[in-house]
Amino acid sequence: MAGRSVEKEKCAMSEIENTGVKGSLSIVQLDVTDEKSIKQAMISNQGKHGRLNVLVNNAAVGSMDPNIKTRLQLFLEAMEFGSKGLKVFAMYPGFVVSKLWGTGDEARIGWGNAGDPLVSGRIVLSKIQGKRDADAGEFVHEDGVYPW
Ligand SMILES: NC(=O)c1ccc[n+]([C@@H]2O[C@H](COP(=O)([O-])OP(=O)(O)OC[C@H]3O[C@@H](n4cnc5c(N)ncnc54)[C@H](OP(=O)(O)O)[C@@H]3O)[C@@H](O)[C@H]2O)c1
Repeated sequence: MAGRSVEKEKCAMSEIENTGVKGSLSIVQLDVTDEKSIKQAMISNQGKHGRLNVLVNNAAVGSMDPNIKTRLQLFLEAMEFGSKGLKVFAMYPGFVVSKLWGTGDEARIGWGNAGDPLVSGRIVLSKIQGKRDADAGEFVHEDGVYPW
């Protein structure tokens, strides 16, 4: 599990471990907009696990900057990735509980309208399990794909 703040990662890791879920979890510091940080994370992963099978890039910024150019720039910096030899999927996770619109109680639950992020997790899992391979390169949602 990668993130910019090791403190936040440790909190998330203990929350996950406390659920009693099976498997092992380790953390690595990563800012997806920082080339040096990406290289360090790659080296760290190589040392611990030997290789990377799947990368789930959930990094996102929900900027409220009034300048649309700044908002687009921030969005693109967090979303950029190469695709050589990889199966790449873009994904719409559904409107679900998250910190995208703020960390306050109401914002997190999308003012009462956001759904369960477990649904988004299941879409990610289905791709990792190869169940959505036919949709590689597409903009995937729970029940199908959106046209680009
Ligand atoms: N939630 C929804 O309903 C919804 C709907 C449509 C699309 N999406 C998309 O789903 C994706 C995930 O969003 P979310 O709802 O999970 O948002 P979130 O709760 O705000 O999580 C986004 C995470 O991205 C991390 N991040 C931001 N910039 C980063 C960087 N440069 N390097 C590494 N990590 C970075 C943030 O880490 P920090 O804690 O360090 O800030 C944050 O934990 C986004 O692409 C979003 O557009 C979500």
